[in-house]
Amino acid sequence: MGILIPIASGKGGVGKTVFSANLGTVLASRGKTVVLVDLDLGGANLHTYLGVRNKHPGVGSIVWKKEKSLENLVVPTGMDRLYLVPGDNLLPGTANLDFFTKRRIMKELLELTADYVIVDLGAGASYNVIDFWLMAPNGIVVTVPEIPSVLNAYSFLKTAAFRLLFRSFGKGSKERERIVEFVVNRTEGQGDTFLAFAEELAREDAQRGGSKGAKALEEIRRLRPRVVVNMGNGQDDATIAQRLREISARNLGVGMEFISYIMRDPYVPASVADRAPLAATAPGSSFVRGVNAAAERILRAPSIEAPGLELDDEDLFTMIEKAFDEEENQSP
Ligand SMILES: Nc1ncnc2c1ncn2[C@@H]1O[C@H](COP(=O)(O)OP(=O)(O)OP(=O)(O)O)[C@@H](O)[C@H]1O
Ligand SMILES: [Mg+2]
Repeated sequence: MGILIPIASGKGGVGKTVFSANLGTVLASRGKTVVLVDLDLGGANLHTYLGVRNKHPGVGSIVWKKEKSLENLVVPTGMDRLYLVPGDNLLPGTANLDFFTKRRIMKELLELTADYVIVDLGAGASYNVIDFWLMAPNGIVVTVPEIPSVLNAYSFLKTAAFRLLFRSFGKGSKERERIVEFVVNRTEGQGDTFLAFAEELAREDAQRGGSKGAKALEEIRRLRPRVVVNMGNGQDDATIAQRLREISARNLGVGMEFISYIMRDPYVPASVADRAPLAATAPGSSFVRGVNAAAERILRAPSIEAPGLELDDEDLFTMIEKAFDEEENQSP
């Protein structure tokens, strides 16, 4: 069983897949065995970023019950210790997973043999994506430092928090009904925050002698999303990213760790056209420096259960300053 790193984003096109491919390449170059899994069903394209030809069966085979084991779908990428489970290109039409297939894939993800299993998810906050992302308490969310993308990242986290709360109570329970009602009737910025609502549910549950509410709160507090700010272009980016941290903490009770600030880098689109990860061809590029920073934090994390070791408020600003300093030193 490997350490699971699910990678999601509220908004599409923010660089999840190119980040996944390069994070895998970096971790593999540091001696770790890595399996990249393309779970962007309906939009699977991780193979193209790795230069792997589109001829291997992938997750689509599980969905269409032609294959039971993810392990049997693992293909080499041409790079040492880096492997891929392709998506559903050969058997498409699988964007909507039924419950049993989703559960099977989850079980199979946990059984893959590797140090790290990196899962590239589709954009947005559909329940399938959220459920895979919630398989780790510290899944990655990629955003670009622009208001719409950061707002979508926040919506993603909010949906994940609600999903966790919802799943904590039994099917057909009064609590589930209340949660749905709260979501439907709530206007953003008015009334109770998610956190206040979750605490109220837990209190009522405890008064009736239940423990599910308390457990749900514990799970929500254990969440520590790792945020990657990609395609950065200025010092103002810190303010926008900081907003995400503040509203998530205040409204959701969810703290986050910024694990990397990656600048906009013209080498990235060029590498995509070349079908080779930049980490393999231009390890000194600013994009790869950003990916390295993320990899270092991931390698440093003592275990999946432990929250990040980094200090909350220093990380983002230090990271952005460092990225700009390094960029200057690289210039001729
Ligand atoms: N730091 C960067 N600098 C410049 N271009 C970038 C950077 N990161 C990503 N890109 C470009 O953004 C585009 C989208 O990247 P990618 O496909 O990885 O996004 P995605 O989040 O996986 O998209 P989708 O939601 O469609 O799956 C690519 O063309 C890539 O070259
Ligand atoms: Mg993608």
